[in-house]
Amino acid sequence: MHPFFNPNRPTSGDVEQSLKELKANDLPWKTGKVLAYVYEPDPEAYALIQKAYMMFLTENGLDPTAFSSLLKMEQEVIDIAINLLGGNEQSAGNFTFGGTESIILAVKAARDYAKEKYPHIQQPNIVMPVTTHAAFFKACHYLSVDPKVIEVNDKTFTPDVRDYENAIDENTILLVGSAPSYAHGVIDPIEDIAALARSKNILFHVDACVGGMYLPFAKNLGYDIPKFDFSIEGVTSMSMDFHKYGYTAKGASCVLYKDRELRKYQIYTCSEWSGYSIVNATVLSSKTGGSLAACWANLQFLGATGYEKIVEQTQSAKMRIVDAITSIPSLSLLGNPVMNMVAFASDTIDLFALTGMMKERGWYIQLQFKHGISPTNIHLSINQANVPHIQQFIDDLKSCVLELERSGSTAAIPFPEKLLASLTPEMVNQLKGSLGVGDGEAPDDLTMVNRILDASPPHIRDMILKEFVNGMFR
Ligand SMILES: Cc1ncc(COP(=O)(O)O)c(C=O)c1O
Repeated sequence: MHPFFNPNRPTSGDVEQSLKELKANDLPWKTGKVLAYVYEPDPEAYALIQKAYMMFLTENGLDPTAFSSLLKMEQEVIDIAINLLGGNEQSAGNFTFGGTESIILAVKAARDYAKEKYPHIQQPNIVMPVTTHAAFFKACHYLSVDPKVIEVNDKTFTPDVRDYENAIDENTILLVGSAPSYAHGVIDPIEDIAALARSKNILFHVDACVGGMYLPFAKNLGYDIPKFDFSIEGVTSMSMDFHKYGYTAKGASCVLYKDRELRKYQIYTCSEWSGYSIVNATVLSSKTGGSLAACWANLQFLGATGYEKIVEQTQSAKMRIVDAITSIPSLSLLGNPVMNMVAFASDTIDLFALTGMMKERGWYIQLQFKHGISPTNIHLSINQANVPHIQQFIDDLKSCVLELERSGSTAAIPFPEKLLASLTPEMVNQLKGSLGVGDGEAPDDLTMVNRILDASPPHIRDMILKEFVNGMFR
């Protein structure tokens, strides 16, 4: 019986102990050897973030008039974001709980703006490259907007503005570009897309979820960073996360508009029920003030000079990793990564095996499946906690690759796509056991699952993922 139903209650100490035990199998991010998911602040900032979060844990962001502290902090955080991203007095924005929420809101604003301004549009669409973050596909799915996906170049992994032009039709409400895209860390030709957006009078969103809190500092340090923000005429909205390279607690992002007028279409109000008046600037209604306070505190504490220092360190770590990758003949760097996110592929080495070998040495690196012109690859997000371990990383990477080369490893042998294309949910459920995926638990070793997912066409991949995750959660 679960302790919840047992009248003999555990002490708070017992519960705390259980929590510690629950963490035992989590990714060991404190080692500094995890190159995804976690953006670890330095110890002093971390202590401050924890304190700030707890101070506002219970305050509710539901009503901006009830907790003036939250309103003030949000205004200041957004002011910093607007200033970093080339906005002006007319610009506006909101603090959200993640990049996905920011993106859903930007798409909702574009959809509702179009509804009012262009009532002929029955079925709106968004033109975006295949490298655009999945959050835009999700926003389209939730908001009944069609994604019109354009290809990218197979060397640069960036789109051609002519493909945007060809894809635009009378129902296009928004263009999207990334600065940079997550998967390959490359910046789309934002100035060209903005010029097109202007000429066609279409809204243009730049997703700077990862770049917003990084590129401005890299630019200040003298790195060659193209213009990507509101300083370009035609960029109408942007998203930027604090919980990535702002190194604050999760639940911290923002959506910004060049012009406050557009933000109006993001806001949801409901006066048609029998309860209190609802006016939500963002998706969530009741929400902790904790992540906002932690974000505000961390921005105050680090300041522009603090972020610049971090970017200086991660940029040089990135360059060392890029040099190492390009010096290993069996690996190939994908695209031209401008910041600290890189991806590499291999024609000769089994990347699934490489990921497993690196895991045995304590490294968590992220596999990305092949899609269209993007081959199966490994993604690295290099954050400040990884910096002291970079030489070890390079040494381990080189020695794992060498070991694979010596063992005669070849690129992963693909599963027959035809066979996978005929999988049904029932077959997937039968397969689960033999892949070590038990209901109610996350699998220990994802190698075989990953091989199957990589080889599957997108609709089968989606189906397998849904079956697995539906089984994983209670
Ligand atoms: C470019 C980009 N946009 C959007 C997102 C979605 O952000 P979140 O996971 O905070 O919802 C991510 C996440 O990695 C991203 O890299």
